[in-house]
Formats: sequence, structure tokens, C-alpha cells
Amino acid sequence: MLVTGREILEDAHRNNYGVGAFNVNNMEIVQAIIEAAEETNSPVILQASQGGIKYAGIEYIAALGKVAAEKAKVPVALHLDHGTDFNQIMLCIRHGFTSVMIDGSRFELEDNINITKKVVEVAHAVGVSVEAELGKIGGTEDHISVSEAEATFTDPDEAVRFVEETNVDSLAIAVGTAHGVYKGEPKLDFDRIKIIKERVNIPLVLHGSSGVPSEAIKRAVSLGINKINIDTDLRIAFTHAIKEFIKENPDNIDPRKILGPGREAMKEVIKEKMRLFGSAGRA
Ligand code: 13P
Repeated sequence: MLVTGREILEDAHRNNYGVGAFNVNNMEIVQAIIEAAEETNSPVILQASQGGIKYAGIEYIAALGKVAAEKAKVPVALHLDHGTDFNQIMLCIRHGFTSVMIDGSRFELEDNINITKKVVEVAHAVGVSVEAELGKIGGTEDHISVSEAEATFTDPDEAVRFVEETNVDSLAIAVGTAHGVYKGEPKLDFDRIKIIKERVNIPLVLHGSSGVPSEAIKRAVSLGINKINIDTDLRIAFTHAIKEFIKENPDNIDPRKILGPGREAMKEVIKEKMRLFGSAGRA
């Protein structure tokens, strides 16, 4: 069933578990996520980045997400990942997204508050949930790139002011993760997660969660992370399985035979994540 992001994350926040938000770009990815969610009885968030929307077209992404969610036995939210443009956020709402992210992290605090407030006001008026970002998360997610030097951790005092003034539903915080493939092992600032959670008391979001060791993810969830964004790990599973199939079946030209193993491989990775995050059995 299609629900708002808030509905899913409020339960995760109250009961202290994490929900996976997986990036979608085509039908196979959507199906892998929904099948994994149903098999583990887990709530889930399908999220489309601006790159995903550009690749598939907003009509296709919205239709795929909505059909999948409505058919699913588990709660599913359709979320815009890293929205940076007010008009595009409105377009997503119009196409049926039940949750949107306004990423104003490139702005100074004051301007980030102002743009987030504006999105919250409109989105809440039509029952759509809003995620915002405070601090700067490193790495590259489609068109958004933040170098190591530019990345800055979220300040707890600023987080309190930000949440109070914007009335946002969930907050993405910068605590040491980065989008994309890690060069070394990421070091998370667990104390910062704990302090921010105690002070803002709303669902917190961890971006760049692919490649983060399972123990670190578990600890982050126990301290208050409720939404865990995964893109790169699905790309890796999908591509490796397809390459393997083509290597073993160089003469096969059937796209279904080629993409099918990619879908299966992603599904297995997603199921594992759902168990790790604690969302399995929570639908
Ligand atoms: P990864 O690609 O590192 O999993 O990050 C995904 C993400 O945070 C999407 O917003």
C-alpha cells in the first residue's frame, strides 16, 4: 500500500529501527525492492533521485512506484531523493510522490531554513512528508558532488534551530558517511548521532550507507537513525550479476534473461539490508 514517508518513519522512530530507502531507476530495481520487502514483511521507501527521474522520465518513475506500492502488501512510500529545485519538488508532488527531500545543504543556514520552510508549508498542505539536510554529506550522488574538504558534520545546536523553525518531518545528518564507493573504511561520529537524536527527537536519515560495515549501521540505528539510503550497493549487485551472465552466455540476446539475474541479485542484497536495519517483520 502507498503511504507517506512520515507514516513509515514515525513508527521506526517510536520503535527504534531503521527502514531502507533504495534508489530506483527502472522496473527491475522497483520489483527487486518490493519482492524483498514482501518476503521479509518490511516497510520500505522507494526513492528517485534527479538523475533517476531524468533517465526514466517522471511519468514512468511515478507510475512504476505507484503501481508497485499499491500492489504491495507492505507499506511503501514514494520519495524524491535530493530535490534541489522548488518547481521540480512541486512536480513530484503532483505526480503522486508521498515524500520529498529538499536538499538545501549547499546554502548558508538561514537560506537552507527558508527554502526548507517553503517546501514544508506546501507539502504538508497536501499531506506529503519532507526530509531536509543539514551539514554537508561528502561524495557524489548523480549531479551533486561534495569533496572531502567541503564535507561538514551537522552541528547539534543548528539542528535544533533548523527542526524548530522548519517543522521538517525527518533530517539527513552528516556524520562521516559519503555517497558512492568508499576508498577506506568510513568512520562514523556515533556521539554526534546520539546527541542530535536526543535534542531534535525526530526520525534521522543516513545517506551514503552503501559500504558501511554492518556493525556501524546497527549502532547508528540503535542511536536514532531511522532511514538508511542505499544506492551504490544495488548498482554493484545488479551490474556484477549481469556481467557474470553475459560472460557465461555470450550468445544470449534476450534482455529478460540478461536483466533477470540482476534483479535477483539486488533482491538478495535488499533482504539482507532489511534484516540488518531491523525493518523485517515490522510491516
Ligand atoms: P550510496 O550510493 O552510498 O548508497 O548513497 C545513497 C544515498 O545516500 C542516496 O541519497
